[in-house]
Order: sequence, then structure tokens, then C-alpha cells
Amino acid sequence: MNYNQWAEETMQRILKKLDKTSVQIGARCPHKTEGGEFNEEGISWWTNGFWPGVLWLSYIMTKDEKYSNTAKKIEENLDTVLDEFDRVDHDAGFLWLLSSGANYMLNNDAKSRCRLLKAASFLAARFNMKGRFIRAWNTEKGWAIIDCMMNLPLLYWASNELDDPRFKFVAQEHIETVIKYFIRNDGSVNHIVTFNHETGEHLGPLGGQGAAPDSAWSRGTAWAIYGFALAYRHLGDERLLETSKKVANFFIANLPEDMVAHWDFRVERNAQTPRDTSAAACSACGLLELAELVGGTEGENYKEKAYLILRSLTDNYSNLNNEEDQALLFGGTINAPMDYGIGVGLIYGDYFYMEAICRLMGNKEIFWYSSPKNDKTC
Ligand code: GLY
Repeated sequence: MNYNQWAEETMQRILKKLDKTSVQIGARCPHKTEGGEFNEEGISWWTNGFWPGVLWLSYIMTKDEKYSNTAKKIEENLDTVLDEFDRVDHDAGFLWLLSSGANYMLNNDAKSRCRLLKAASFLAARFNMKGRFIRAWNTEKGWAIIDCMMNLPLLYWASNELDDPRFKFVAQEHIETVIKYFIRNDGSVNHIVTFNHETGEHLGPLGGQGAAPDSAWSRGTAWAIYGFALAYRHLGDERLLETSKKVANFFIANLPEDMVAHWDFRVERNAQTPRDTSAAACSACGLLELAELVGGTEGENYKEKAYLILRSLTDNYSNLNNEEDQALLFGGTINAPMDYGIGVGLIYGDYFYMEAICRLMGNKEIFWYSSPKNDKTC
């Protein structure tokens, strides 16, 4: 099936909305919606790369410099985080790949390159040599989390850019630990795995943002699908592709009828059970990446599933016809166990939704590849 026409029409609707919300939001860093308006967290918050990411995608689609100028302003604002060091954590990939990475990819900006190299160095320096994992947050010394798979493209990029394999080696070691301790036989994943940070001893999983240590948090599952597919693209080890497929097959097999994941695949599901549209949007990007990597009938199958997810998001969970809400999507869940951020708009859900539609349109400027050495044509 040719999904192009649907994707182009949907993109026009997205851009119509962003034409207004980009002015309302400006160079702030939106996170989640409250009463239809995006709030803002501190400048180091892990989601602060996603709005620049949305703006750069809008620029690719329109060539309107109002988007690129605002994205560049936010990129400059993020410098305070790099300068202060203490507030950088493993989410360096989310922050700088979608801001500086996009600017470098599209404009070869020298300052953006420098920011990316600093961020990559900070990320690599978080590697715990005894436990062979990248430390997630600054508050807990021995925790690794599945989300980090999406930050690793910063390390692949740095190795490629500097022709220095050390960054890539760190990513490869971390990935081995993820395969060993996070990915379960049935394709579900752990959110958090803990280690003794002095000895490296494996201590066990925690539920984190999932319902329980042995449950299946849907956004973490989506991070793994996309993260392993990107790891395969960069590192070319077949086990990485097989892992992405295994997790993708689990994700697809556990989707409800309308194709938009509940917040955890192992909770009792009824009409009140929250969905997580951000997991759905991220999974669509991962499935489209997988579709390209595996090709053939298998690839078409992943592409079809991604389309069905995006179609349902657009028809059932979008604000494209609602001018009162700034988010593109509603129905995101931040942290159900903490009863925090349920049924809201999330800037990362919006980013992945837009990236997935761009992908369906054939756009090849994917910020997770983040190198001017990539083919820049559409
Ligand atoms: N990376 C944090 C989350 O997915 O909520």
C-alpha cells in the first residue's frame, strides 16, 4: 500500500497547528499539557530536546526560518546545562541529538558539533566499568534504564565523527548488559536494572514507570524497539536486529484493537485503563526503522503496523481539529504508578508522531543518524 498521500495530508494538518503553537510556545521548553497548555520544567529536564526536534522537522517540511531560528535559540539556552556539568545525565542524547544534532545535520554548524562532542563525552564518561552499564540518573549510582538505548546514537555519531571507536565501544558494552539483564525471553523488557556501583554485581530489576518489576511498561518497550533498530543500523550486529524484532513482535502482539498501547501491557485492561500515546508514537518510528532494515514482506508488515498505529493516533487521539489544546496528541502517560501525568499531551509523543509521519513521507533526515556524512536527500 502507498501510505504517502495519507501522510502528506496529515502533515499539512500538523503544520497548520504548529504554525500557531510555535508562536505561542516560542523558545520555551514544553513538557506536558495542563488544561491544554504546555508547561515547562527546568532547563536540564530530559524532554527539552523534543521541541527543537519538532521545530527542525517543521523547518525541513516548510523551509520557514521561524522554526529554525527558534530551535537555534533553545539550543543556545541548553548551553547552561553543558556548562554546569552536574545536571547532565544519560539523557544527553535526547537533549542534544534533536537540537544540536539536527542543526549540525542540516547546517553543518560548528558550534553544534562542539556541543554534540561535549555531550557525547559526558555520556561515555557515565560508563561503570565494573557493572558494564551507562549510569542513568545522577541521584542513583547503580541504576541503568532501558530508555538509554535511545541516547546511544550520540555515541555512534561521535565515533563516526572523530573516527574514534571508543564511544562506540562504550555503547557496545552497555548493549551487551541490556541484552543480558533487560530483554526477557518473551520480548518484554525491564525498565530499571540495578547494580552495586562499586563491585558491579547485578542486583535485579525494579518496576520503575511500569506496574511491577516483571510487568511490561509500554514506553520502555518502544524505547527498546527503536533503540535496538538504531543500534543495528550503526553497529551492524545481527543480534541487535533480532532483539529489536523480538521486542517489536511482543509489542504488536499485545496491542489492543485500536493499536494504541496501554501504559503497561501487564495490567488489567478495561475502558478506564490509561493508554500511552507517546509509546505508540515512538513504537511507530521504531517499526518504520525496522521496516527499512529488514525489507521485503517482513518489512512491509512492520510498515503496515506503524501506519495503523499512526492512523489510530490521528483519528482517535489527536488534537488536530482542536485549537484549544497545544499538543498534537492527547492520551500520554508519564508515570502511572506515581499517578503523575495521565491522559496528557507530551512533547516527546508529539515529536515521535511527527517524525513517524515524516518517515512515512520518505524523509531521510533522521536526527538519530545525526551526521552530515549521511545521505541528505529526501
Ligand atoms: N525517559 C523517561 C520516560 O520515558 O518517561
